[in-house]
Amino acid sequence: MQQSIIITGGAGFIGSHVVRLFVNKYPDYKIINVDKLTYAGNLANLKDIEDKPNYKFVKADICDFDTIYKLMQDEHVTGVIHLAAESHVDRSIKDPFTFARTNVLGTLSMLQAAKLYWEALPEKYEGKRFYHISTDEVYGALEIEHPEILFTEQTKYNPHSPYSASKAGSDHFVRAFHDTYGMPTIVTNCSNNYGPYQFPEKLIPLFINNIRHRKPLPVYGKGENVRDWLYVEDHARAIDIIFHKGKVAETYNIGGFNEWKNIDIIKVVIKTVDRLLGRKEGEDLDLITFVTDRAGHDMRYAIDSRKLQRELGWEPSLQFEEGIEKTVRWYLDNQAWLDNITSGEYEKYYESMYANR
Ligand code: NAD
Ligand code: TYD
Repeated sequence: MQQSIIITGGAGFIGSHVVRLFVNKYPDYKIINVDKLTYAGNLANLKDIEDKPNYKFVKADICDFDTIYKLMQDEHVTGVIHLAAESHVDRSIKDPFTFARTNVLGTLSMLQAAKLYWEALPEKYEGKRFYHISTDEVYGALEIEHPEILFTEQTKYNPHSPYSASKAGSDHFVRAFHDTYGMPTIVTNCSNNYGPYQFPEKLIPLFINNIRHRKPLPVYGKGENVRDWLYVEDHARAIDIIFHKGKVAETYNIGGFNEWKNIDIIKVVIKTVDRLLGRKEGEDLDLITFVTDRAGHDMRYAIDSRKLQRELGWEPSLQFEEGIEKTVRWYLDNQAWLDNITSGEYEKYYESMYANR
């Protein structure tokens, strides 16, 4: 079936991988990337597909209800894959309002625009889908002492950061639109992603860039927090499968069964960068600098994604060692992409974030 799909946040990290996958895999679909191009949005992430006939970019704020509603009408939108969000926990601690606005009100604006547009059609919600991309952080934190306990789709929401609280709020609105209006919604909660095109404020690209320039690596607390890492293209593949085959009103957890203590992953990254730059492996370990912990720092995230594997046949394709090697290689080969982002305003922001640590 031909589809006209709005992908929000398509100029960001995960969104750009989803846009690329859909544009290349579904030449009959029209893919409309709606992005405000905040500091995190970068059209350079989509250079390779920007001229494809089934791709269109629209610069817009998801909070701008009138623009979104008109776009749905003009483009006869049949599906929404909603990724646009403020996504960095440290920024949410400094500026929670922006997170509430974009993540909660922006999601509500997308839902309401889709509702009004779809309900006015003769076939209404038939053949439509509103797919909301969320995070495992809404479930709160797990204990290191109980490695057998993972987040399942039944885990109670218990967000701790302004970021995860705002994502939880958006998830609740999405489910409320199904329960109240019958909108065909799906929510997925994914673990930490890594891979090409991630903004270098997040752990892995930030540290790769710092190692390259021999800058200190600010490790929060003792580096003992645990995250469950998934290669971004595996997430994009899951989104494709779930958009097409997932059951309406369901939640699916997405994760790679790949838990790492921060300090251990940091050592792997250092050794990989050193090796690929022709330095002595491990010679940059002394860049590790323990700094004041993040406020409210969640100790452990770990996703149980067996439902998705069992019901829809998805599983991660890459071994972690292979994924990290690919990722480090990509950032080292794309230094111009990094330099472009890390110059100017971002440099000032980064300096101010770490000035008092
Ligand atoms: P990102 O910060 O790299 O990209 C976000 C994109 O949204 C940017 O292109 C930005 O310009 C756009 N955007 C922000 N505010 C907007 C607005 N008001 N209107 C329109 N566009 C706007 O984020 P990401 O890491 O790619 O995350 C994408 C989604 O996946 C988010 O919803 C995030 O919560 C979720 N998620 C991320 C991870 C992860 O590890 N990165 C894990 C699980 C879930
Ligand atoms: P991050 O990439 O910000 O993702 P999230 O907070 O959403 O999990 O951080 C991953 C982990 O790395 C997290 O436990 C915080 C830690 N971290 C550092 O120790 N130093 C840093 O400079 C950053 C950005 C993160």
